[in-house]
Amino acid sequence: MTMEHKVERKLFDEVMVPCYNPMPMIPDHGKGSRIWDQEGREYIDFAGGIAVSCLGHCHPVMVDALTEQAQKLWHLSNVMTNAPALRLAKRLTELSFADRVFYANSGAEANEAALKLARRWAKEEHGEHKSEIIAFTKGFHGRTFFTVTVGGQPAYSDGFGPKPGDVTHLPYNDIAALADHISDRTCAVMMEPLQGEGGIVPPEPGFLQAVRELCDKHNALLVFDEVQTGNGRTGTFYAYQESGVEPDILATAKSLGGGIPIGAMLTTDALAAHMKPGVHGSTYGGNPLACAVAEAVVNEVTKPDVLAGVIEREQWFRDGLEAINDKYGIFSEVRGKGLLLGAALNQNWEGRARDILVAAGEEGLLVLVAGPNVVRFTPSLVITKADIEEGMARLERAIAKVVAG
Ligand SMILES: Cc1ncc(COP(=O)(O)O)c(C=O)c1O
Repeated sequence: MTMEHKVERKLFDEVMVPCYNPMPMIPDHGKGSRIWDQEGREYIDFAGGIAVSCLGHCHPVMVDALTEQAQKLWHLSNVMTNAPALRLAKRLTELSFADRVFYANSGAEANEAALKLARRWAKEEHGEHKSEIIAFTKGFHGRTFFTVTVGGQPAYSDGFGPKPGDVTHLPYNDIAALADHISDRTCAVMMEPLQGEGGIVPPEPGFLQAVRELCDKHNALLVFDEVQTGNGRTGTFYAYQESGVEPDILATAKSLGGGIPIGAMLTTDALAAHMKPGVHGSTYGGNPLACAVAEAVVNEVTKPDVLAGVIEREQWFRDGLEAINDKYGIFSEVRGKGLLLGAALNQNWEGRARDILVAAGEEGLLVLVAGPNVVRFTPSLVITKADIEEGMARLERAIAKVVAG
């Protein structure tokens, strides 16, 4: 790297709005599941850009799609449609319950579209009174004001003045609480089919089915936020496909683009009919550059060996974490599905997930947390066994350091 391209981490503190507190190192380039910083130091990536880089960094399939499209057409706006957007939409409808696609640029925007569609449907089909959105404590749906209000973490939604109204939060996995509360006033239930940011919390057996039944009973829509679980991460293209419970609306983003910003809301013909021209929109949504990359990513991820490989890799992760735990006894459980895994710290190590993340960084390993007590792993879906083993060796060194104090 030439000197004029180098920047110092302290420049972040001078020129950036301080919403984040990034690590001291500054990544320069990546390949597969390895990243190199400006100093040439190498890291193994168990974080995958927070469940985004599903094919790792600079996968040839993505680079080829990007460079090919970059020579043709980058952007149009929705005044015109384009071939990559239509091809990708067709593919997404073939791969899911959905008949229709609305493109956004992020998970929050896909969820925002889902919530607006649900409210629109309820008002047009049933009247003004049917406006309640039910969501779950510790759920996470993005940072727009509507989605952050629907997310079940007041720490993220407080402090910005009056919130969008008629949103109720109930405990996840508590079907009795939902049965008690839901009514014909309920417009939609929005949920993650496996909570990610809230601590990698899987649904208990029967929970998703019971939510679906209650929604049907009260004529409410079921919205699955698959922004983190989707696009192969749990071993099926969407997580709902393993549960057998179909939503009415689904939000997808993150791994959909493998690193290019794109999100989408998927829904049925009947619901989509409530979105007439001008009702909702986005300048960039369905941008040909993003859609061309996403199409290539989706085609790669849906190869049977890639999806089967997710389950194989889950086992390698679980084996590695179990071996570490046998030595250091710091995890109470490893939970999640596919390559959306969380190692929950036991009582003795409560609140120390961030310390492990920092120590791992010092050992050349990138991991995530999901709350103060869970170390989270969302690597590339095609990470190699050698990278997993080397990453586990680094994680073990990091944990040994934390345990030693
Ligand atoms: C389940 C879920 N929904 C929505 C979002 C928001 O996505 P974005 O940051 O792309 O807006 C996230 C991000 O972590 C997420 O995990």
